[in-house]
Amino acid sequence: MKIALLGANGQLGRDLQPALSMSDVTALTRNELDVTDSAGSRAVLMDLRPNVILNTTAYHRVDDCESRPEMAFQVNALAVLNLVRIANDLDAVLVHISTDYVFDGNARQPYTESSQPFPLSVYANSKLAGEFLIRAISRKYFLIRTCGLYGVAGSHGKGGNFVETMIAKAKRGESIRVVNDQVITPTYTVDLAHQIARVLPTTHYGLYHMTNEGQCTWYEFARAIFELSGIDANLTPTTSELYKVPATRPRYSVLENARLKELGLNQMRHWRDALEAYLKEKSFGR
Ligand SMILES: NC(=O)c1ccc[n+]([C@@H]2O[C@H](COP(=O)([O-])OP(=O)(O)OC[C@H]3O[C@@H](n4cnc5c(N)ncnc54)[C@H](OP(=O)(O)O)[C@@H]3O)[C@@H](O)[C@H]2O)c1
Repeated sequence: MKIALLGANGQLGRDLQPALSMSDVTALTRNELDVTDSAGSRAVLMDLRPNVILNTTAYHRVDDCESRPEMAFQVNALAVLNLVRIANDLDAVLVHISTDYVFDGNARQPYTESSQPFPLSVYANSKLAGEFLIRAISRKYFLIRTCGLYGVAGSHGKGGNFVETMIAKAKRGESIRVVNDQVITPTYTVDLAHQIARVLPTTHYGLYHMTNEGQCTWYEFARAIFELSGIDANLTPTTSELYKVPATRPRYSVLENARLKELGLNQMRHWRDALEAYLKEKSFGR
């Protein structure tokens, strides 16, 4: 299998490289392939002729997207349309990563692949637009929604992941307030990368939810980070009402890996076990 991996310097992109080591992977950073350059992207991919185009790129500074909707739609939707068309021309499989934020958070039980999206922010709308383009036009695709990613490489696009940010704040002795009314499933990019590698050789194309198991609020996640790393922190819970940010987030965006479970392919562990593994990998563990 010949794979073109886009966004290779990101946290998921980095962890996909060892997870896909049995395949012939060409890792492309933004310098080598900028997805907003349609002609340039086409030239690189037509020259490479991969069987799989694996797109981990996104413009996902969620709050900045509110004031930069053109940029959000350019990267998260229009560039995706270009990749769909290239993949179709090459008869290649397109793998694309979407988000739990496509849901409005009014549910009280995990969203499955058949739940109805209703995005609340510009970022979420742009990601859903990318999803629609894939589902409408792509011939062979894996469209993967995930949630709360953290990985050893840290998120370039977001200026660091949540775990790194929490630990850095605690080490600086800052008081830390974290919302306790948004429920998610934090997901380790190593686990997601291996789950993608498990599904990729199959022809079970379509939409998937892929997160670690279990659920917690962002505050509970932060508390677990400090418990498991043994780092002292001045941490207090707050509410979305008090912690004002430009983009509205869903209050509940837990995803059920329903399709993976139906196919007997789910290998995702509990988020707490995954966090422990990440902290050890980063040498933050006890
Ligand atoms: N992070 C989360 O919590 C989360 C949650 C749900 C879904 N997702 C989705 O998961 C995917 C991977 O996220 P991640 O956390 O691994 O992101 P990340 O660490 O920020 O990596 C994204 C990569 O995409 C690259 N990129 C951005 N714009 C590009 C462009 N125009 N052309 C080419 N490359 C570009 C970035 O390049 P630079 O290194 O040059 O910036 C970066 O290396 C994204 O689709 C995201 O929407 C993320």
